[in-house]
Amino acid sequence: KRPAGAPDRDLAKPVRKVGVIGAGLMASQFALLFARKLRVPVLITDLDQARVDKGLSYIGGEIDKMEQKGRLSSDDANQVRALVSGTTDKTLYADCDWVIEAVFEELSVKQQVFAEIEPIISPEAVIATNTSSLSVEQIGAQLTHPERLVGFHFFNPVAVMPLIEVVKAPSTDDPTLATAMAIAKKLGKSAVITADRPGFVVNRLLAKVMGEAARALDEGTPMPVVERALAPIGLPMGPFELIDLVGWKVAAHVQDTMVSAFPERFYASENLHRLAEVDEPLTKSKHGKVEDLSKAGKKAVVL
Ligand code: 3HC
Repeated sequence: KRPAGAPDRDLAKPVRKVGVIGAGLMASQFALLFARKLRVPVLITDLDQARVDKGLSYIGGEIDKMEQKGRLSSDDANQVRALVSGTTDKTLYADCDWVIEAVFEELSVKQQVFAEIEPIISPEAVIATNTSSLSVEQIGAQLTHPERLVGFHFFNPVAVMPLIEVVKAPSTDDPTLATAMAIAKKLGKSAVITADRPGFVVNRLLAKVMGEAARALDEGTPMPVVERALAPIGLPMGPFELIDLVGWKVAAHVQDTMVSAFPERFYASENLHRLAEVDEPLTKSKHGKVEDLSKAGKKAVVL
């Protein structure tokens, strides 16, 4: 059955090579997923070779783990390793059919990245943004062909979270949307098509949860208490552990976008922004990030 709002799947374009712009944690996670599930070459780039190498090393480590756990046979692991490469040379995107960015969550940065690659890629290539809350239409405003831009919003951890929000901007055409839906399916994710509105669907709710947890902090309830108080309500992890997972800067950006779009409905937390400047994991996490509430957090937050 065709998902709500999805165009005819025959309109999907073939994807023989993927380009990933950015080699941060999110980009590296989905670069690996593309290689594993689409089994096509995946090229990642970033501003400098050190960033690219960090991304490649994360991907290599994850492939090793999957091989050790028997989730990838050694033939498959070798095949996936060989499919992922990294460079700082964006001209190598020329033969990519699908290029997706996960660079800094700032409108002007995303616009600039696409302005740079549009003359390089083929006119047929589809481009996607993994923005967590910015307007896809505005990101594509300076493109010569905005109709081939679509939002493709992954959730962290990419390997595990089952959903992708496919964001249809007013200009997104049907072949672009069909290509995004076909890719999501090949990745083994369920995809929903959302309107191009701030926070799409999921981050509207998450920004509420994170914002209210941060409000409790601003009002003087210590972070571990907020975290513990919310543990029994059925969330898979506490709100601050979740912020640690997505990153404080990302969480603060989502919050900013929501506050400026809907000032009467979302809460701007001073502590959230102070902690985003520190940008370090702060919770005691069973997922292995830190042992205890960090000194950085204690400096920034009145606990
Ligand atoms: N990378 C890869 N795999 C991971 C992982 C990671 N970072 N973290 C966990 N996993 C895998 C584990 O290997 C394990 O796989 P297995 O069962 O095959 O061995 C599986 O996930 C379950 O992990 P655990 O047993 O360690 O832990 P949990 O059962 O507690 O689940 C969780 C971990 C899936 C992360 C769960 O806590 C969860 O769903 N948390 C909420 C995550 C969430 O809401 N994400 C959305 C964030 S919002 C976002 O990303 C959007 C952005 O725009 C802000």
